Amino acid sequence: MPSPELRFQWARLDDLSARDLHAALQLRSAVFVVEQNCVYHDVDDYDLQCWHLLAWSGKQLAAYLRVTDPGSKYPEPSLGRVLSAPAFRGQGLGLQLLTEALQRCATTWPGQANRISAQHYLLKFYQGFGFVPLGEVYLEDDMPHIEMLRPAA
Ligand SMILES: CC(C)(COP(=O)(O)OP(=O)(O)OC[C@H]1O[C@@H](n2cnc3c(N)ncnc32)[C@H](O)[C@@H]1OP(=O)(O)O)[C@@H](O)C(=O)NCCC(=O)NCCS
Repeated sequence: MPSPELRFQWARLDDLSARDLHAALQLRSAVFVVEQNCVYHDVDDYDLQCWHLLAWSGKQLAAYLRVTDPGSKYPEPSLGRVLSAPAFRGQGLGLQLLTEALQRCATTWPGQANRISAQHYLLKFYQGFGFVPLGEVYLEDDMPHIEMLRPAA
């Protein structure tokens, strides 16, 4: 199936409309809380100090991630809450989303590495973008995770 055409929106929290923010938080909780059956604080204070990347297919939010500022969660800019909406999976959106995010990071923080606390089942997915695993698998909110670093270009 060909990838749907996406419109990317890269914005700080204060620059998102209330409706765009609602769409992002609704999709995050649908995926990370309900689908992954995980009771955790999805909305946190990092949301205040990060860039939000929204990928729209028409009026539908198809994919999303956030990038915390360097020195906020980690010394490096850090990708998190990476998701594509269930109805859009397996069509290359994850690849498009990560590619866009890494380009935005390179422009926003030139010469900086990127870090991710990745769900372990996606190790190969992130390795495909140049992320290298660091250390052992650990539990975060009861889900196996591994820290990964993508060295600066
Ligand atoms: C992970 C996720 C974003 C992938 O999105 P997607 O739009 O289906 O991804 P794509 O269609 O672009 O696939 C990209 C690659 O990831 C791989 N992939 C996708 N889902 C996968 C899964 N569940 N397990 C392992 N690999 C997976 C695909 O096989 C593909 O690899 P290929 O190019 O070698 O075929 C999506 O499955 C998702 O939202 N999952 C739930 C949220 C989540 O766990 N987020 C990760 C937080 S660290």
